[in-house]
Amino acid sequence: MNKLNICIAGIGNVGSELIKSIEENKSYYEKKSSFQFNIIGVSAKNKNKNRNVDIKKYRWFDDPIEMSKLNDCNVIVELIGQEKGISYDLIESALNNKKHVVTGNKALIANYGKELFKLAEKNSLALSFEAAVAGGIPIIKTIKNNINLNKISKISGILNGTTNYILSKMEEDNLSFDEVLEIAKEKGFTSDHESKLDIGGYDAAHKLTILSTLGFGSVLNFNNNFIDGISNVKIEDINFAKQLGYRIKLISETSIVNEKIFNFTSPKLIDYSNPLANVGDALNAINIETDHLDNLFLEGQGAGGKPTASSVLSDLYDISQNITFDNLGFKVNDLKEFNKISSDNIVNRYYVRIMTEDKPGVLSSITNLFSDTGISVEKILQLPENVKLDKPIPIIITTHKIQKEILTNVINKLEKLKFVKEKITLLPIHDN
Ligand SMILES: NC(=O)c1ccc[n+]([C@@H]2O[C@H](COP(=O)([O-])OP(=O)(O)OC[C@H]3O[C@@H](n4cnc5c(N)ncnc54)[C@H](OP(=O)(O)O)[C@@H]3O)[C@@H](O)[C@H]2O)c1
Repeated sequence: MNKLNICIAGIGNVGSELIKSIEENKSYYEKKSSFQFNIIGVSAKNKNKNRNVDIKKYRWFDDPIEMSKLNDCNVIVELIGQEKGISYDLIESALNNKKHVVTGNKALIANYGKELFKLAEKNSLALSFEAAVAGGIPIIKTIKNNINLNKISKISGILNGTTNYILSKMEEDNLSFDEVLEIAKEKGFTSDHESKLDIGGYDAAHKLTILSTLGFGSVLNFNNNFIDGISNVKIEDINFAKQLGYRIKLISETSIVNEKIFNFTSPKLIDYSNPLANVGDALNAINIETDHLDNLFLEGQGAGGKPTASSVLSDLYDISQNITFDNLGFKVNDLKEFNKISSDNIVNRYYVRIMTEDKPGVLSSITNLFSDTGISVEKILQLPENVKLDKPIPIIITTHKIQKEILTNVINKLEKLKFVKEKITLLPIHDN
């Protein structure tokens, strides 16, 4: 029986599930691949930590880099997850020592992947990362291997499970952002450290950077992203959006507009009829539009040890079968340095919530200011009944497409008016 000798660095959520799967399904994997998935070394930070897998039977390495130098190691699986540091050094050392690499580390790939992919290609090695985007959803291979001859025009999706859980739960249980964030932490969906990346939109933007490279052959460049997180999303906006026929979701989208790259992650209002609006709980989903496919929609578990280990296993299987595709779907030298789209060229429809004094003439002053600046109003939401006296009342306006700068100028003017009582809320509306 052929052997695929595997060294695993990082035995946390994903690494431990990977070990369990390999142990529990030994003969099944052998039958399907004609290879024995053979773990020959493991490494983590703390050798004596209590774990849900027994690692005593494997050779332990305090320093994971030592594993990359073993003659009989075929693949290094990097599941430590540092944005650079030891994770980068390990992958670099593995590639220099002619070992294939499998990783789930999106932050590292998005920020520092460029040189590593060059090195992998130079040494004809796999640097595989199915686990790095949308956990268990096979999005990387779908784009890279299955629809590789399609011309992709747009990829949009919900790429972060924690933020989708928070927004879904806020809507379902009518709770505030802070209340749901606490629940998400208690359930272990996110930690203090991770929540900054999740809630700030950075985790989704890391994944979007990777998708834009696969989709459009752009050089990996995290700086091309416009990023806005969900911490300012208020329950009242979720409820008003509902009355208008929308949900609020953290949407990431990538396309090429006038030869410039458009990578945008932001909370957006999204029409109920769009399948992305109906992705609940902590799920992820991605919609791909191509010259052959109007909508290719993939939905599933975007995080968690077991689903993510499924993606790692799929990369290991490909390596065992010598299934070779370019790691990024393009030769590294063919990747193109796109300029980031200027914010002047980004147009959206917008949702605007203005909290005002309840007195005659307020609405017409606002709409006059909008029309004087060429902003076309699509809808005004009727004010709710039973408003408490002396409390500011909400005026909800949706606009037709407009440049954000133009709208922001008007918002700045409005916020200076006496009858406007709070900072105005502005959210883009997703095009269906
Ligand atoms: N969890 C998910 O749902 C998910 C989904 C998609 C992608 N990913 C990616 O998969 C990777 C792993 O995620 P995870 O959730 O499994 O992480 P995790 O639970 O935090 O596990 C990290 C592991 O790395 C080990 N480690 C930390 N510093 C180390 C060092 N200097 N040398 C060797 N080992 C070290 C830790 O050791 P100890 O156990 O001794 O502390 C731990 O076993 C990350 O890149 C993550 O972004 C995760």
